[in-house]
Amino acid sequence: MSFLGSTELLPSAPDLSPDDFRRVRQIAYERAGLAIPAGKEGLVRSRLSKRLRERRIGSFSAYLNTVEAESNGEEMVKLIDLLTTNKTDFFREPAHFEYLLAKVVPAIKAARKPLRIWSAGCSTGEEPYTLSMLLKESLPERYDFRILATDICTRVVAAARTGEYSDEQLGDVSRERQARWFAKSSPGHAAVVPELRAPISFAHLNLMATWPMTGPFDVILCRNVMIYFDKPTVTRLVNRFHDLLAPGGHLFIGHSESLTAIEHRYRYVQPAVYAK
Ligand SMILES: C[S@@+](CC[C@H](N)C(=O)[O-])C[C@H]1O[C@@H](n2cnc3c(N)ncnc32)[C@H](O)[C@@H]1O
Repeated sequence: MSFLGSTELLPSAPDLSPDDFRRVRQIAYERAGLAIPAGKEGLVRSRLSKRLRERRIGSFSAYLNTVEAESNGEEMVKLIDLLTTNKTDFFREPAHFEYLLAKVVPAIKAARKPLRIWSAGCSTGEEPYTLSMLLKESLPERYDFRILATDICTRVVAAARTGEYSDEQLGDVSRERQARWFAKSSPGHAAVVPELRAPISFAHLNLMATWPMTGPFDVILCRNVMIYFDKPTVTRLVNRFHDLLAPGGHLFIGHSESLTAIEHRYRYVQPAVYAK
């Protein structure tokens, strides 16, 4: 083998024809509600080409035939995993957490009610672990709160379950909180302590499918997820969230998202915060 190693043997990524792109867009939309914009051929090609190499499949059309033919649906799951965008951070969009601590938590505590939260589209877990940290710090010990954290991407749900993060991913977590809520797991990495993990249930869930849970939730966070959906999909989804919220419950959406052009039953509270 030459000094270039095995990479020199890899064939370059095959072309993605207009028909291949149309098929990928159709699958993404029908299976996951993802509306891949026109002109994103380069993105789709780069995200999928590694998978074609792993499967030793020489063309996108043959790969898509495999995806559609496999009866166990495993390759479909892989394809959807690859088409999702999973960027997230601890303490992302802090205005939501400030609102939660200033308004939601005091009301729940005063009513002596359990607190139920759903992180819908939780990616690698930074959002639910941020919630867990803040609630552990602000609620009395043993207060009954639970967080359901779900995502369509199997890879991120598995990562979220392990709760292990690199020092870089922990950049937005203060030294004090890192010391309290994380334990060094390997060089440059730390994992959440069991106490932080305990209130969270992680699950693979497609927001487009039927949901096994009935609620009610006090807060649903669906942040930076609907940005990839079209208007009819967002309309359906926010109305389904409404059905699962307790009266007075809140929906938090991403600050770059808006329900302005959407028909819904919420009361607008402040940017990216809606109440039932
Ligand atoms: C950009 S991340 C946002 C993560 C986190 N909520 C935040 O704001 O940092 C969007 C997540 O939505 C998930 N997602 C996209 N379509 C979905 C669907 N149909 N059902 C469930 N999750 C979906 C993606 O897999 C991805 O992890």
